[in-house]
Amino acid sequence: MTEPAIPGALSAVDRLVVSLVAGINMRALYGSEHPALASHVDRILEGVSAACQERQQDSLTFLVVGQDLVVETQPLRTGSLYHQQFIRALTRRGVERLTVALGLDAEECVRFLTPMALGGVPLSTRYITVGRVELQPSVIEEGPGPGTGAGGGAGPGGDSAIESLTAQGVDGARDAFTEFRTDRRGGLVRLEQVVWSLMDALQRATREILPLAPLKTHDDYTFVHSVNVSLLTLAQARSFGIEGARLHAIGLAAFLHDIGKLKIPLEVLNKPGKLEGDEWRIMMGHAQEGATHLCGVEGSHPLAILVAYEHHMRHDGQPNYPVPRIGRRPTLASQMTSISDVYDAICTTRPYAKARSRQFAVSVLTERVGTFHSPALIANFVRMVGVTPADPPDEPTR
Ligand SMILES: [Fe+2]
Ligand SMILES: [Fe+2]
Repeated sequence: MTEPAIPGALSAVDRLVVSLVAGINMRALYGSEHPALASHVDRILEGVSAACQERQQDSLTFLVVGQDLVVETQPLRTGSLYHQQFIRALTRRGVERLTVALGLDAEECVRFLTPMALGGVPLSTRYITVGRVELQPSVIEEGPGPGTGAGGGAGPGGDSAIESLTAQGVDGARDAFTEFRTDRRGGLVRLEQVVWSLMDALQRATREILPLAPLKTHDDYTFVHSVNVSLLTLAQARSFGIEGARLHAIGLAAFLHDIGKLKIPLEVLNKPGKLEGDEWRIMMGHAQEGATHLCGVEGSHPLAILVAYEHHMRHDGQPNYPVPRIGRRPTLASQMTSISDVYDAICTTRPYAKARSRQFAVSVLTERVGTFHSPALIANFVRMVGVTPADPPDEPTR
């Protein structure tokens, strides 16, 4: 097969589409190691760089909308054979959304091209996010409407989200979370995969039934809480247009926000009622502990360290915990994580407290606007979860 001539008038994004189609076609003909494929893969990698540069972004998202191909919010001219082939190739595999990001390498590229060419399910990886259409009737779409499911942690939407995660091969995610303490690098790689899967699950969920994972046992609490905080934070970040590798970094950081709690003795972590003196001091130490732990993990993203450290800090820079040497506002990712953290902690039954309604959680958040939380972020979050505040808050959150 010969490479098509590329007219000079094509944009870098168009050229990337041509390279991707050619790469899929070549992979259908040649093995993954064949030099003929390698040169096409190189063109795709160059294409990703050029297209990102053209758009001044670090990732590009293609959407299939009916018969049209949309890049970010802009429809491409779809008259060309290559556009049509690209749409057909994506549709054939149920891909409705594809994000490619700077940093993509040859191996990851071939891993994407293989199922696209030969059949199977293309999965999200570090620099390629694949949003798939539900091929069976979606249970997620049939979840409860806004404001239902008081307690928020075990609704049908939540169950289906976890089931779809399982279906995508995230079995063992709980183990990966726990193993992360001992097998630091290996555990992190598996957790990175979990976050890609959460991004996939989120792309299929509607706003109203933003999935919250069900709590199976008390031992699960920190894991389930981490899944929920990651999902809610990913949803917030996406609502601001953050995509691809940057979105993944935020989702992973949110996932790991409470990693320091794994070192807290269970009798303190799960103690019913209020914590006293030393217990509270140990609890407050989890932010610093988590950041220190992540500093020792090879390959951990600086954002994860920052979010672990900052997720209990206040938006207005006033002291909460930990208290940095120089008072400052937490970063955006930490602020989003903090909102998700409070919301999920209240909505999910914890070992030490019963779940409250989503409306109650929103009322706690709105009480803290301007002090703990940014007004703009809370307004966005409330819009996103689609509930209105209920009774005034009457309890602190850990
Ligand atoms: Fe925390
Ligand atoms: Fe938390």
